[in-house]
Amino acid sequence: MARKIIIDTDPGQDDAVAILLALASPELELLGITCVAGNVPLELTAKNARIVCELAGRPETRVFAGCDRPLRRKLVTAEHVHGKTGLDGIALSDPTMKLQDQHAVDFLIETLRAEPAGTVTLCPIAPLTNIATAFERAPDIIPRIQEIVLMGGAYFEVGNITPTAEFNIYVDPEAAKIVFGAGVPLTVMPLDVTHKALTTRARVEAFRALPGRVGPAVASWTDFFERFDKEKYGSDGAPLHDPCTIAYLLQPELFSGREINVEIETVSDLTLGMSVADWWRVTDRPANARFIGDVDAEGFFALLLDRIARL
Ligand code: RIB
Ligand code: CA
Repeated sequence: MARKIIIDTDPGQDDAVAILLALASPELELLGITCVAGNVPLELTAKNARIVCELAGRPETRVFAGCDRPLRRKLVTAEHVHGKTGLDGIALSDPTMKLQDQHAVDFLIETLRAEPAGTVTLCPIAPLTNIATAFERAPDIIPRIQEIVLMGGAYFEVGNITPTAEFNIYVDPEAAKIVFGAGVPLTVMPLDVTHKALTTRARVEAFRALPGRVGPAVASWTDFFERFDKEKYGSDGAPLHDPCTIAYLLQPELFSGREINVEIETVSDLTLGMSVADWWRVTDRPANARFIGDVDAEGFFALLLDRIARL
């Protein structure tokens, strides 16, 4: 029986690769893609998600538009990383598949109420505004969620948008506080692990060499996407953040981490959006997350290449 998932996303080149990985993996049943404002405004994230589904040859995938701004703050976007379109790197035609009429938050609530309890996994790879809004509007869905596997936060790697905060958490820290405090089984893919999943030249060329359109598109996206991290960190490629969540669902043995307490800073302007991870367990705050710190990068990219090649 395939594992039922919902991807909550702000495409974003790395989001796009995560969506492709999910669509290429028969172990997963993608119930829907819910879009949120983040890397670029909502109109573009909802458009980009459909571009990716059509690139994968899966125009029947249901894509929903959700919240267009954080719960209580102005939207911060990341065109400096992802480009004006959010999918810079390759020109792809506008989608012809339709956006679903239903709001993403209503889809999340309706689906979690309709599916048997404990059978739906949420994969947020964006600011957590949609998820938190659904929790605030319908708290009854919280105990019905099987697991949340999200990309966000950082500890040893500290911030990528401020000195202390990772982008997904920073954009909507109040939403992150709600999600991290909801008591749902939570697995977190922070920068600590995603920065070890780098698109080295050899890995990018392996995507480019794949037959068909999808592999070369992934290579073109990473060619564009990597310049931010290479300039900032001097790294040997770009961290493929978001696909780590989907790869974890497919091959959890590729990853390792600890059950620890993670709290979100929502008050201090200096450290707003910081994920305060008690990695060394120096507090008596209860563990609320499996915080992933390491990945078998070779195994991760082998999985990614194998699956993208199937599209
Ligand atoms: O900090 C990395 C995260 O922010 C990724 O999800 C990327 O797509 C952006 O949303
Ligand atoms: Ca993202």
